[in-house]
Amino acid sequence: MDIEQARGLAREKTEKDTTYRHLVSVEGVMRRLGRHFGEDESTWALVGLFHDLDQDQTADDPDRHARLAAEWLREAGVEEAVVNGVLSHAHEEFQKDRVDKAIVAADAVAGLLVAAALVRPERATGMKVSSVKKKLKEKSFAPGVNREEIALAETNLGLTLDEFIGLAIEGLQEVAPAIGL
Ligand SMILES: [Fe+2]
Repeated sequence: MDIEQARGLAREKTEKDTTYRHLVSVEGVMRRLGRHFGEDESTWALVGLFHDLDQDQTADDPDRHARLAAEWLREAGVEEAVVNGVLSHAHEEFQKDRVDKAIVAADAVAGLLVAAALVRPERATGMKVSSVKKKLKEKSFAPGVNREEIALAETNLGLTLDEFIGLAIEGLQEVAPAIGL
């Protein structure tokens, strides 16, 4: 499935525009991380794009979350590596590969970056690692963002916080035009 078709499916399944924009932001971060690790960046991008595909239908049902998305993805013929990555961000028993570790940290950092971009007149353009780190330490800024999940990039991916945030910013910038950032 190419990225245009994939975004079309994401548009179709999401009910809220904020959910769609969240999905595309994580797509961007994951693509950049996949490239960094020399992995299949389109697989990583699709895991990012689809990880919360059923968010608007399963928000009140954590056990069903990602499982409904997996059903839709299999029906659409999406490769199993992507389906597993989607399942893994919500259900530990599916966590086995590097992509499964990356999605949890990417999900959290994308939330922080989007919140940070929205309070800048230039949005994602020219965003700096140092200013994002300041926002990270400010607990009252984007309080819904799980800081511990961002820190997983160090333990699970072997990246320093600076490296991780730097890659995440670049990934977000690549998709920014598609989500008004
Ligand atoms: Fe998410």
